[in-house]
Amino acid sequence: MGRVYIEDIGAHQEREVTICGWLYNKRSSGKVRFLMIRDGTGVIQGVMSKSDVDEETFSLHEQLTQESSIIVTGKVRADDRAPGGYELIINGIELVHLAESYPITPKEHGTGFLMDHRHLWLRSSRQNAVLRVRSTVVKAIRDFFDDRGFILMDAPIFTPSACEGTSTLFETDYFEGKKAYLSQSGQLYAEAGAMAFGKVYTFGPTFRAEKSKTRRHLTEFWMVEPEVAYADLNDIMDLAEEMVEHIVGRVLETRGNELKVLERDTSKLEGIKRPFPRISYSQALEMRKEKEVHVQWGEDFGGEEETVISEMHDLPVMIHRYPGQCKAFYMKADPEDQRLALCVDMIAPEGYGEIVGGSQREDHLETLRKRVAEHDLPEESFRWYIDLRRYGSVPHSGYGLGVERTVAWMCGIPHVREAIPFPRTLYRLYP
Ligand code: 4AD
Ligand code: MG
Repeated sequence: MGRVYIEDIGAHQEREVTICGWLYNKRSSGKVRFLMIRDGTGVIQGVMSKSDVDEETFSLHEQLTQESSIIVTGKVRADDRAPGGYELIINGIELVHLAESYPITPKEHGTGFLMDHRHLWLRSSRQNAVLRVRSTVVKAIRDFFDDRGFILMDAPIFTPSACEGTSTLFETDYFEGKKAYLSQSGQLYAEAGAMAFGKVYTFGPTFRAEKSKTRRHLTEFWMVEPEVAYADLNDIMDLAEEMVEHIVGRVLETRGNELKVLERDTSKLEGIKRPFPRISYSQALEMRKEKEVHVQWGEDFGGEEETVISEMHDLPVMIHRYPGQCKAFYMKADPEDQRLALCVDMIAPEGYGEIVGGSQREDHLETLRKRVAEHDLPEESFRWYIDLRRYGSVPHSGYGLGVERTVAWMCGIPHVREAIPFPRTLYRLYP
């Protein structure tokens, strides 16, 4: 008799095992008692007959409340009728803790209520499935870069400067009257890393004081940011598309059960194969005109326009060369048309919006200094960054992929707030 996890139960048919878990649900039918037991890796139905256990164990069924912690011993039996394909023929139950009346019951609850109980909601099978997919997405990303010789380079969270515009900076008090800002992106540090290691990636939480209440925005989200020396815009478009194909492939390969729980239409994901369409901002503007979405040349695309474009394709779409005026200070201008930035946004299909934003970086010293000034950024805080253009400056490029939007897309869930264990939004800092 040994402890096993429910996800591995198939390897223990006809053997006696012990499961350490919690009571998910229970019911009775005549002289038989059923316990749905979950252990975090799955749910299994336990069956208890009066003849198999002592009186005390049998009567425990009555007492057990939802989410009580129990250690259950029994024999594993394959049964096609059982949810999951296996049953546990119980011969012993040890009660570890009798749970108080559990706030989340099988009846319908509003999202606000569930989010207030996020610390418990994580136990539900849907939320469990989403966060398992997240874990796989993160691992797939790390493997992708590690296997290609990228060095992981962690960027600081406290920073002296803005990376993605001053309007979404979280400010905190540092020491001696100094201000620190929570990092909006590890990119600037990744650029220093690329010059030191050739190719690097940062992977960590990033912060945006976004007052947006959309289903795509969090104030704290996770981003992976590769940065490559001697790479141009095309090189990182190739990299981004290869990475996204890899992530989707890994999720399909290893998270079939979770996608089933989520009722995800996997045929949509199975079709995600390179090459992805690449269109310029100007072409995208034309396409939108046909769809009656009117945006002036020079404006960035919002969620609505992204949705229109994504709905015209089954694959992620890479839109490149936006007008520089609506993009960040560090992007290099297109030598063919100085009004354009050498940048790319990848728009996910099915209306999931922008999942990747990247660019070739301005590598010329004086041009970069001019950009910093034009964006009203304090050169003092960027001295180190500008330095990178003084000592062996090279063309280099990178991008950032938002983990939560990617997870939401994989899972087919409408809102990014369920794609992170404890979401932070304009209105939510608890739990
Ligand atoms: O397009 P963004 O702002 O790009 C950068 O931060 C660059 N410095 C990245 C780089 O080149 N190294 O953000 C990149 C991605 C977006 O495409 C989106 O997926 C995600 O980060 N993202 C958000 N996700 C959730 N909530 C928010 N408020 C987000 N803002 C950006
Ligand atoms: Mg962007």
